[in-house]
Amino acid sequence: MDLIVYAHPDAHDSHNAAIKRHVEENLKGRGKEYETIDLYAEGFNPLLSAQAAIGKGEPDGLVEKYQGKIAKSERLIFIFPIWWYAPPAILKGFFDRVFTAGFAYNFRKEPSMPKALLPLIKACASQKACYGMFLKQLPVEQKLVGKSAVVINTFGGNDIGYEMFGSAPEYTVDKAVLNFCGVMDVKRVHWFEARGSVEIPIKVREEIDAALA
Ligand SMILES: Cc1cc2nc3c(=O)[nH]c(=O)nc-3n(C[C@H](O)[C@H](O)[C@H](O)COP(=O)(O)O)c2cc1C
Repeated sequence: MDLIVYAHPDAHDSHNAAIKRHVEENLKGRGKEYETIDLYAEGFNPLLSAQAAIGKGEPDGLVEKYQGKIAKSERLIFIFPIWWYAPPAILKGFFDRVFTAGFAYNFRKEPSMPKALLPLIKACASQKACYGMFLKQLPVEQKLVGKSAVVINTFGGNDIGYEMFGSAPEYTVDKAVLNFCGVMDVKRVHWFEARGSVEIPIKVREEIDAALA
C-alpha cells in the first residue's frame, strides 16, 4: 500500500492540492491501493508533550492510527510546501510524535563510532555508498527498513535559491528522518516557482509520474 502524507492547510486550490490530486489520480489509474493522511484536515496536533519528549507519553489514538498506516505501507509519499527551507511545522510535529523510538527506530547498546572517524565521515557523507556504509554502523536499529519514499515539494523560489540555502530538506527530512529510520530509497520531486497558476508544469508532472512508477 502507498501512504500519502499531505501537509498543507489548503486541500483544494493550492499548488500542493493540485499535486495531491495528481498523485491520487496516478495511483487510482494504475489500480494502486493507497490511503491519504491530510494532517491539517484531520486536526493533527504537532506539539510533543513534556512526557512524550522523555518517552513517557500517554498512548494517543491518532498517533497510533498513523503508526498503523505507516507499518502497513510499502511506500510513503510526502507532499508539502517549503517554508523557510523546511517542512511546515505540522509535518515536523508528525515526525516528532509519530516516528517514535520503538516504532521507527531504537537505539542499540553498542558504543558510538570512534570520534577519529569524523573527518572521514564528513569528507564522504555526500557519497551515497560511503554514507550508506556509515549509516549501517550507527548504534541504531532502523525499524522502517524495506519501505521507500517519494518527497514532493513546492517552492516559491527557484533552484538557485535551493542550492544557495543548502538543500536543507534533503538533510532534515530525507536523511535525518527517513534514512535514519531505514527508508533508504527516497525519490524527490521539486516544483520551483510555484506561483500563480496551479496547473502543474509538464516537466514536474512527468517527474512525479516517474517517481511514482
Ligand atoms: C511561511 C512561508 C515560508 C516560505 N518560505 C519559503 C522558502 O524558504 N523558500 C521558497 O522557495 N519558498 C518559500 N515560501 C513560498 C512557498 O514555498 C510557496 O508559496 C508554496 O510552495 C506554493 O505552494 P502552495 O500554493 O501549495 O502553498 C514560503 C511561504 C510561506 C507561507
